Amino acid sequence: MKRLHGKTALVTGAARGIGRAFAEAYAREGARVAIADINVDGAREVAGAIGGDAMAVRLDVADQASIETAVAEVDRAFGGIDILVNNAALFDLAPVVEITRDSYERLFSVNVAGCLFTLQAAAKAMIARGRGGRIINMASQAGRRGEPLVAVYCASKAAVISLTQSAGLDLIRHGINVNAIAPGVVDGEHWEGVDALFARYEGRPPGEKKRLVGEAVPFGRMGTAEDLTGMAIFLAGPESAYVVAQTYNVDGGNWMN
Ligand SMILES: NC(=O)c1ccc[n+]([C@@H]2O[C@H](COP(=O)([O-])OP(=O)(O)OC[C@H]3O[C@@H](n4cnc5c(N)ncnc54)[C@H](O)[C@@H]3O)[C@@H](O)[C@H]2O)c1
Repeated sequence: MKRLHGKTALVTGAARGIGRAFAEAYAREGARVAIADINVDGAREVAGAIGGDAMAVRLDVADQASIETAVAEVDRAFGGIDILVNNAALFDLAPVVEITRDSYERLFSVNVAGCLFTLQAAAKAMIARGRGGRIINMASQAGRRGEPLVAVYCASKAAVISLTQSAGLDLIRHGINVNAIAPGVVDGEHWEGVDALFARYEGRPPGEKKRLVGEAVPFGRMGTAEDLTGMAIFLAGPESAYVVAQTYNVDGGNWMN
């Protein structure tokens, strides 16, 4: 028996990377999946590759009207949303004295407000259907501690951990479990951009930062999106019913609490 048979899932930021891997894993486990992304062409490509009942939906998590439209569209198409993964996020990097208000506002509107208000819209839809649900927020090891060049992104992911706790405690009375995953360093297109930013600010040759962070992982390498899918399935499935308001590190041993 597939572990998510009969369930429906909306994954934000699923046109590539970790979100795509989660959507594919959920589909393999029998769920109908909605690929929600600001990059709607990418979302369509992923939904087409998954096939079956997978659908693509345009979603800008920084825009309230877009959140409400997308959540309503998926709720209607699938007859309810059982699982939401709040995965869409932006990254930026700068020394504290060079952080711009524009960078701060972009990251907080996507990483924090996007997480909160997509969670809120999905929770309302779940409560209206009366069958509970699962919400999984993507945090980060960056939310566990600060980093010299990464103040805004780290603060945004600390906020995601805090939101997970508050929403988890509030929504469990509706049968909605809210938890989070904190990855370490996960290889993919996202890290190509991160490496390029470190190259600029730390004067490194391209690829060096990526190599160094991979070597520093106790497991011995960077993670892959596939390394995270087991936790994503667990938090979406019946075995995690008693797990509430937690953030789980899946990071090869980088962080321990
Ligand atoms: N890759 C890592 O090393 C790493 C580590 C820790 C945490 N994370 C977190 O995991 C999640 C996924 O990371 P990833 O590496 O797959 O990132 P990614 O940059 O590869 O993918 C992010 C996706 O979000 C989409 N997106 C961006 N802004 C959006 C918006 N306003 N509305 C809707 N979609 C939007 C993008 O189009 C893209 O498809 C993020 O929350 C990230 O912070 C990643």
